[in-house]
Amino acid sequence: MTSYTAHFKVWRGDAAGGALRDYEVEVNEGEVVLDIIHRLQATRTPDLAVRWNCKAGKCGSCSAEINGQPKLMCMTRMSVFARDETVTVAPMRAFPVVRDLVTDVSFNYAKAREVPSFVPPKGLAPGEYRMAQVDVERSQEFRKCIECFLCQETCHVVRDHEENKSVFAGPRFLMRVAELDMHPLDAAAEAGIDRATSAQDEHGLGYCNITKCCTEVCPEHIKITDNALIPLKERVADRTYDPLVWLGAKIRRRGQ
Ligand code: SF4
Ligand code: F3S
Ligand code: FES
Repeated sequence: MTSYTAHFKVWRGDAAGGALRDYEVEVNEGEVVLDIIHRLQATRTPDLAVRWNCKAGKCGSCSAEINGQPKLMCMTRMSVFARDETVTVAPMRAFPVVRDLVTDVSFNYAKAREVPSFVPPKGLAPGEYRMAQVDVERSQEFRKCIECFLCQETCHVVRDHEENKSVFAGPRFLMRVAELDMHPLDAAAEAGIDRATSAQDEHGLGYCNITKCCTEVCPEHIKITDNALIPLKERVADRTYDPLVWLGAKIRRRGQ
């Protein structure tokens, strides 16, 4: 096993301000960035704030910007950097800093609450639901989400535009709307909820210009743009511009 000393720059500070600080830290073979942050805590900076839980890429807690790239610290191997390269670790930049590498991600929880949950179909008890395998697989892809919020912080609509946060739910929650809108058993329409239209009018789908940055950073490799956002945009277009769909919706609303 070979060890070496790496040069790190780690952001230290709080809501009032902060800066990158330089550290020399020991690195051992097979380690990830989170190991180095833990070694810093154990040996040099016991007050360094960092959020983590599983160290296995599954809890979504250790999101940060590593050399300016949104990443999970526990899934970023030190072996991807040259030994003489400076590794910079900073908090996610789209959310307010609490301290050091910890950000306040409550924006995401507020957006999650704005999406109406699955509406169970009438006349079917749990256990009696039947779906085509293709529909099961579609939902399962979206359900791999670990809520790391890397897609949320990467999307340019909010990354440098705090003012857009009130009107844009972000890719993670637009994906949730898409999942439910495409779910064959979701009975939201019967309950008077038009998910596609609300994606456009209330969750800011129109702000997404399919740059795909969200998809590129997703550690679960969910095809957020191709499989959720673009189909959702198509469904909005169908509902808005297809005269037959428009008429059907109008008649349905009258019936209610
Ligand atoms: Fe993270 Fe991917 Fe879920 Fe976005 S969709 S929160 S990037 S796991
Ligand atoms: Fe943003 Fe992803 Fe759309 S990065 S612009 S939500 S494709
Ligand atoms: Fe759980 Fe990194 S510590 S995803």
